[in-house]
Amino acid sequence: KKPKASVIFIFGGSGDLNQRKLTPALYNLFIDGWMPEKFAIVGLGRTQYSDDKFRDHLSKGIQEFSRRKEKNGIWKDFSQHISYMPMDAEDDASYKSLSDRVKEYEKDWGVNPNVIFYLAVAPQLVPDIAQKLSTIKLCSDTQTTRIVVEKPFGHDLKSARELNKLLTSLFDEDQIYRIDHYLGKETVQNILALRFANAMFEPIWNRNYIDHVQITVAETVGVEERGGYYEQSGALRDMVQNHILQLLCMVAMEPPVNFEANEIRNKKVAVLNAIRKFDRAEVQNYAVRGQYGDGWLKGKKVKGYRQEEKVNPQSNVETYAAVKFYIDNWRWHRIPFYVRTGKYLHQKTSVITIQFRPAPHYAFPAEAAETWRPNRLTISIQPEMDIRLRFQAKRPGQTMSLSPVDMIFSYTEAYPDEHEPEAYETLLLDVMEGNPAQFMRADQVEAAWEVVMPIIEAWEQRPPIDFPNYAPDSWGPEDAEALIARDGHNWINLP
Ligand code: BG6
Repeated sequence: KKPKASVIFIFGGSGDLNQRKLTPALYNLFIDGWMPEKFAIVGLGRTQYSDDKFRDHLSKGIQEFSRRKEKNGIWKDFSQHISYMPMDAEDDASYKSLSDRVKEYEKDWGVNPNVIFYLAVAPQLVPDIAQKLSTIKLCSDTQTTRIVVEKPFGHDLKSARELNKLLTSLFDEDQIYRIDHYLGKETVQNILALRFANAMFEPIWNRNYIDHVQITVAETVGVEERGGYYEQSGALRDMVQNHILQLLCMVAMEPPVNFEANEIRNKKVAVLNAIRKFDRAEVQNYAVRGQYGDGWLKGKKVKGYRQEEKVNPQSNVETYAAVKFYIDNWRWHRIPFYVRTGKYLHQKTSVITIQFRPAPHYAFPAEAAETWRPNRLTISIQPEMDIRLRFQAKRPGQTMSLSPVDMIFSYTEAYPDEHEPEAYETLLLDVMEGNPAQFMRADQVEAAWEVVMPIIEAWEQRPPIDFPNYAPDSWGPEDAEALIARDGHNWINLP
């Protein structure tokens, strides 16, 4: 069923996020028949575009970034729904024109539409825009008016709390959609299906059978033109506080009773609350940071982080982070969750590995053991999209010799005719449908900040002495290897 008529205002309409992600997502929803019968997309920004110029600008984004390009004039049909309103977001008076615009649509369409305000703007503008928006009457309709807020959501626990306090004083929590785009990824959503639509995993999904869990989100890109933003952020804030902790929650959460947004989110918050908070003094035993130097990446000479544009030449900002977390509850008692992320690493890959305990008794002859490996469930999120279960098989032949084999579920092989929607498609559809299950609730964001704060504080207190400490095209700093080797494990890199 299609969502009801919607007007989508995009603050920062002329910006990067809209051109790369938002409009391409809406365009693909349109092709797939998911857009409402009546809808309007209104770009807002300071650039002086005419409607046509704005459409041209977005059309370039479709050619470059959309998973499906323009074909058979579909863009033309779609772009009729797009318009542009030059607007100074700091000017109180201009907010009235938003209401007027909605009234026009209401009259034209004969329905009372959803009104969505997407704040694709720099974080420092969010409080002011939210405040001004809340003064227009439109926003008091808590059923139909929604506001979407991008990351970063706060800079630390304190600022996240302040922002939540402000937003929840202006809007109902149900109206606020805090995006973490990882939650919209098809392979991430499938973790819920894997765990809770099958009976066979749940009984072994605990400390008795699982040895440890690894979550890797490795990127081959550097900070590129985002030095200015990244200097305020670093890998821990940029990836761990949000995306990686959310992945961890999906792996570690208790089974939900139903798919109600708050039920799912309660279960995730419970995980975040159970994560052990380190003393600042012990952080070094649990967390490792890195920064890339200059070097070679896929045959190309690349700059070190400190030489990037808009980056302080003495910057101590980390471009790599690895952390060992413990979740102090019954299910996960003493089971380490190792997570790592970094820029300019050897391979682009996001993958979750569940390593199981060894078989309790080994009855096979000694020579059979040579290639023995523990069972492992590997969930590849991107760019590979598959789930593999590794187990032992008997090698064909007259001796009892074993070797590990993989049983593989590949998305593209299992569903050759279907295409995976992009995260933003799924999430924008959720916003139109009014389903916040895959969005961050206020307490969820704060609980995630609480987890990383001791690390942030310890790192700020003790500047690194060895930056830069890893080369582009590597797997990060040596200390990260040591972190996991101390426990007798190693990071699992897929071939
Ligand atoms: C963003 C980070 O949230 O996620 C970026 O700010 C990062 O630094 C990006 O590159 C990764 O997203 P994806 O979907 O490409 O894995």
